[in-house]
Amino acid sequence: MPQADTVQAICWNNKQLQLLDQRLLPHKKVCLELDEASAVAGAIRDMVVRGAPAIGIAAAYGIVLAARARFAESPTNWKTLIETDLKMLAQSRPTAVNLFWAIEYMREIITGLQGDPEPVLLAEAKKIHENDIAACRRMGELGAALIEQPCAILTHCNAGALATGGYGTALGVVRAGFAMGKITHVYADETRPWMQGARLTAWEMVQENIPVTLQVEGAAAHLMQQGNIDWVIVGSDRIAANGDVANKIGTYGLAILARYHGVKFMVVAPTSTVDMNVVCGEDIPIEQRASEEVLFLTDQPIAAVGAVARNPAFDVTPAALVDVIVTERGVVLAPDAEKMAAMMENT
Ligand code: MRU
Repeated sequence: MPQADTVQAICWNNKQLQLLDQRLLPHKKVCLELDEASAVAGAIRDMVVRGAPAIGIAAAYGIVLAARARFAESPTNWKTLIETDLKMLAQSRPTAVNLFWAIEYMREIITGLQGDPEPVLLAEAKKIHENDIAACRRMGELGAALIEQPCAILTHCNAGALATGGYGTALGVVRAGFAMGKITHVYADETRPWMQGARLTAWEMVQENIPVTLQVEGAAAHLMQQGNIDWVIVGSDRIAANGDVANKIGTYGLAILARYHGVKFMVVAPTSTVDMNVVCGEDIPIEQRASEEVLFLTDQPIAAVGAVARNPAFDVTPAALVDVIVTERGVVLAPDAEKMAAMMENT
C-alpha cells in the first residue's frame, strides 16, 4: 500500500476498498468499506470520494473489485462481462478526466490478462495510487519554486491530500511552500454548495498548523483589492490541449479577479488531468448537479419555496488567464497548445 504522510482518503485493506467519507468531514471520521464496483461508482457519484485524482484512483480499485466478481461468475467470459462495470464507473461523474484515464489504463491491462485477474489489477491500481502521490510531491516542489518571496495565497475547493492519493496538488504546493517559508498564509474559499474549502481544505491546513483563514467566495475581490493575496493556487478536473482549465465552479471568476488585480494564477494538476483529446475548454463536459444541493444546506431548506436553482459543478478558465500550469512533468508558463504538447512529450 502506498504511504503518504498526510491524511489518506483511499486505502486498500485486506480485499476491500476503504474510503474516508468526505461528506462527513471534519466532524466525523467514518471509513466506508466497499467490496463491489457498484458501491464504488455510487461513492464517486455521491461525493464520498471526490477530487479528480482521488476519483481516478478509487475507480481503479473499483475495477479490481469488478474483476474479482466477474472472474468468479465466468472465468472464460469475464472480460466481456466487466465492460458493464467499466461503463457504470464511467457514468459516475463526467468532468474529472482522471476517471476516464484510469478506466482506459485498466482496460488496456485487462486486454492482455490471462488467469485470475485480481493480483495483476490490484498491483496496477496500487501503482496508479503510488504514482499520484509521487506526482503530487514533485508538483509541490515545482510549484513552490515559482514563488519568490513569503506570501499569502488563495485557494478554492479542496485540491489537497483528500482529493488525491495523498499530499495534494494545489495544497501540495502550499505544503512545500510553507515548509520553505515561502507561503505564510492560506485564504480558503468556503466553496458552496459542498463546502470543500470550509470542511476539507481548512481541516487539512489546521492539522498541519498552516495558518488558514476562511471566507465566502464573494469576498475574494475585496481581499485582492486590499492587497491580501499574492497568488491564487488551484487544482483542476480537466485541462484541454490548449491549456484551458476546468475546475470547481467559481475558479473562472477568481482568474478574472486575479488578472485585474495583478495577482498570479497557478493551476496544479498531474498529467492524468490533461486531456489532449479535447482541443479547448468549450468541449469539456460540465457536470450539472441536483438543484437541491443549492436549495438545501445539510437537509435544511435555505431558499424561498418555489425558487429554482442551477448547480453547475465546474467552470472553464481560458488559458489566457492562467499564468502557469504545474504538472509532474514540468511547468508551463502562459500555457498554449504548443507548450502543452511539448510538456506532455516530456517523460
Ligand atoms: O466536486 P469536487 O469536490 O470533486 O471538485 C474538486 C475540484 O474541483 C478540485 O479542485 C479538483 O478536482 C482538483 S483535486 C486535486
